[in-house]
Amino acid sequence: MKNDKEIYYYLNGNIIKGKELCLSPFDRAFLFGDGIYETLRWYDGKLFKLDLHIEKLKKSLDSSRINFIAFDEIEKIINDLIKKNKFEDEEHLFIYLQVTRGAYFPRQHHFPPDDVEPGFFLSVVPFKRHEEELKNGIKVILEEDIRWTRCDIKSTMLMANVLSRQKALEQNAVEAVFVRNGFITEGTHTSFCAVKSGKLYTPPLSNLILDGITRKVILEICKKEDIPVSETEIKADELKSFEEVMLLGTISEVMPVVQIDDWQVGDGKPGPVTLELQYLLGEMIFS
Ligand SMILES: Cc1ncc(COP(=O)(O)O)c(C=O)c1O
Repeated sequence: MKNDKEIYYYLNGNIIKGKELCLSPFDRAFLFGDGIYETLRWYDGKLFKLDLHIEKLKKSLDSSRINFIAFDEIEKIINDLIKKNKFEDEEHLFIYLQVTRGAYFPRQHHFPPDDVEPGFFLSVVPFKRHEEELKNGIKVILEEDIRWTRCDIKSTMLMANVLSRQKALEQNAVEAVFVRNGFITEGTHTSFCAVKSGKLYTPPLSNLILDGITRKVILEICKKEDIPVSETEIKADELKSFEEVMLLGTISEVMPVVQIDDWQVGDGKPGPVTLELQYLLGEMIFS
């Protein structure tokens, strides 16, 4: 893989090599975490669900009152970066984009004047799919959800997620799943689902979880394939009554969970509904 300094990125209107990137320390995402981000995947020459990701980005920007309008340019910027970096033959690419409330001096909590342009960063980098984990499943830990109460906004303010994910890695797990007032919310970068008697359960949309695109797509697949779904609160202390657990996300796809803290899920192998959804998502991606 190319060194990150040699990759071209998009920053505030320009395509620039990594080693030449230059960002003001007065950018509000740097100072306050005052920005919104989105992640996308490019599979075998195709961007996956760009329209849904842009819709999600718009929602978060509206909620945070960041006046960004260049949505129509996003696809072209991604394609320009793929060409410029000669990534056309890569099987998997990971796209990260971030819109901030812009850079303004002096530092102040309230919004900058209206003529301050939002900051816009976009990167496209080769991605190594998590083949082993997708096949064998992962361990997760449960963590108290100490995040703010607007987790429906995809904010760059991610300290709680960072601390919990690090704790997971230090306990030989791959992800931390948050629990708020005794109920499962979601993972640090994933949506949560569990299966009981062939039925898929997932927490309902609210201000406490992100309206994830993978979750949305999987719920559509379930509807089409007559897999029963219940969008309902899941109590952490009732998790043991579920036969399968999985996490959903742009990076994680349909990730089987085979261990939660010290408890083995089912027989410790990915379950049939999880495998079926992995297969159906793969069909949708590569069709
Ligand atoms: C907190 C959180 N929940 C869920 C998701 C999954 O969302 P998506 O499927 O759109 O990647 C993410 C993705 O980054 C996330 O950060």
